[in-house]
Amino acid sequence: MEMTTAPRKLHKNSKLYEQVAEHIARMIDTQTYRAGERIPSVREMSIQKRVSVSTVLQAYGLLESQGLIEAKPQSGYYVRARFSKSVPVPDISSPQCDPTKVNIHELTMMIMKDIFNPNLVPLGAATPNSSLLPADKLNRILASIARRKSVDSIKYDIPPGYMPLRIQIARKAVKAGASFGPDEIITTNGCIEAIDLCLRATCKAGDTVAIESPTYFGILQSMESMGLKALEIPTHPSEGINIDTLMFAIEQTPVKACLVISNYNNPLGSCIPDENKKRLVRLLEGLDIPLIEVDISGELHFADIRPTVCKAYDKKGLVLLCSSFSKTLCPGYRVGWVAAGRYQSKIEWLKFTFSLATATLPQMAVAEYLQSGGYELHMRKVRRAYAYNVSRMYEAVIRHFPEGTRVSRPDGGFVLWIQMPETVDSLILYKQALQAGITLSPGYLFSATKRYKNYIRLNASRWSDDINRGVIRLGEIVEKMV
Ligand SMILES: Cc1ncc(COP(=O)(O)O)c(C=O)c1O
Repeated sequence: MEMTTAPRKLHKNSKLYEQVAEHIARMIDTQTYRAGERIPSVREMSIQKRVSVSTVLQAYGLLESQGLIEAKPQSGYYVRARFSKSVPVPDISSPQCDPTKVNIHELTMMIMKDIFNPNLVPLGAATPNSSLLPADKLNRILASIARRKSVDSIKYDIPPGYMPLRIQIARKAVKAGASFGPDEIITTNGCIEAIDLCLRATCKAGDTVAIESPTYFGILQSMESMGLKALEIPTHPSEGINIDTLMFAIEQTPVKACLVISNYNNPLGSCIPDENKKRLVRLLEGLDIPLIEVDISGELHFADIRPTVCKAYDKKGLVLLCSSFSKTLCPGYRVGWVAAGRYQSKIEWLKFTFSLATATLPQMAVAEYLQSGGYELHMRKVRRAYAYNVSRMYEAVIRHFPEGTRVSRPDGGFVLWIQMPETVDSLILYKQALQAGITLSPGYLFSATKRYKNYIRLNASRWSDDINRGVIRLGEIVEKMV
C-alpha cells in the first residue's frame, strides 16, 4: 500500500513569501523534513533564500495556518504530524449494545508474559519509550530524598497521599481546564488503581458500566475482577464515544457508571472534542450517573494545545478523573491519582482498605521533580518525539501492510490501531509474529465480547531500524495470511 502525495505546483504569480512557503511545503511533502523535526530557523531561511526575515515570518505564518508546521516557544518551527488522507481510519465500532460479562483474563495473562519480554521487538505493550524518560534525574532526586529525609520517606503516607504532590497535580490540572484543590485528590498506585477504586466506589457486582469500544484491557480486567457487566458503546476513531448511542443504550439498560478514556484512547487514539465532553457531562449529570474519566495520555498532544478533560465541565462532582505519571515520567514508580468529586471520602476509605497507602518515596520524588521546573521542557521533547515516531510507524504500516489495511490517525499518545483485511485473525498473527521475535497486542484484548478479530494495536513510542524491520516483517506475515 503506498502513501500518495500529489506534487505541489509553484504558481507563477505567487508572492515572495508564498514561494518560500511552497518551497518548505514541498520539502515536507518529500519528507526531507518529517513530522516532529525542526525546520530551519527564520534567520537561517532568510539567508538560504536571500529574502528578508519578515518574508520568512510571513511564509511560516502561512504554513502554520495550513497546519503544516507549528511554532514552539523558544525552540523554533516544527513539522506537524500528518497522516495520509487516502488511507481510511478503522471502521467505527458497532458492538451490540447489550450488557455482557467480561472474560478476558486468560488471554491477557497469556499475552502479558510475552509483551513485556525485553528480547522481542516491543510493539505489544503500550509502555513509553524509556530513552525519553528522565530516569537519571528522577533517580537522583529519589536517592537524595532518601538521604535527606530518611525517616519521613519510609513512613506510611496514608490517603489522601503526599500533600506536595497533590499540590503539583492540582496546578497541572489547570492546563486541562479543570480546577480542583489538593484536598480533592487521592494519590494511588498508578492509574489502574485509581480506575479500580472508582469502579468500586460507584458500582457493585452485577452492575453495568457503559464503556467505549474498543477500550484498554486493564479497564476490562478491573471490571471482570469485580463481576461488573460491560455495555460497549460504538466509538469513533477520532471523536470518541458516540453520545447519542450511549444515551439510547442507557434508556434501555440501567447503567451505574460510564467510563471513558477521554484523550487519546488506548488503543483507538480518539480524543473526545470539547463540545462533546461538555455534552457528555451534562447528559450524565441529568441522569445522576457518575463519569469515570481516564486522562493518562492527555499531556501527549502533538499540537500545541492540551485537550481539556470532562472534569473541566463538572458542576456536580460526578466526574472522577483518573491519571498517573506512567506515560510521561516513570511507570515503575507507580504514582497515580484520582480527583474523585463527591466520591472523595468513599475513595479515601477504599484506598485505605485495599492498599493502605501509596509508596511514599516515589511520591516525594515525583513532587520534587515537578517543583524543580524541568517538566515542561521534558514534555515538549517527548511530544515532538512521539509525533515523529508515530508518523514514521504509520508510514511504515501503510507501506508494508496489504491493501485494505486501515490505520488510526492519533493526534497524541503513542499507539496505532490497525484494522486488517477480514481474513486475518490477530491471535494467529500474534503467534506467528512471536516466532519471528515480534510482540503486538491482538484486537481481542480490547473488548468484552472478543470483537476486533482482525485488529491489532502497535506501540509506536519508539522508532529505529530494528522497529522498522519488525514492521516490515509483520507486514509480510499479514500479507501471507491474506
Ligand atoms: C488507558 C490506560 N489506563 C491505565 C493504564 C495503566 O496505567 P498505570 O501504569 O499508571 O497503572 C494504562 C496503561 O497503559 C492505560 O493505557
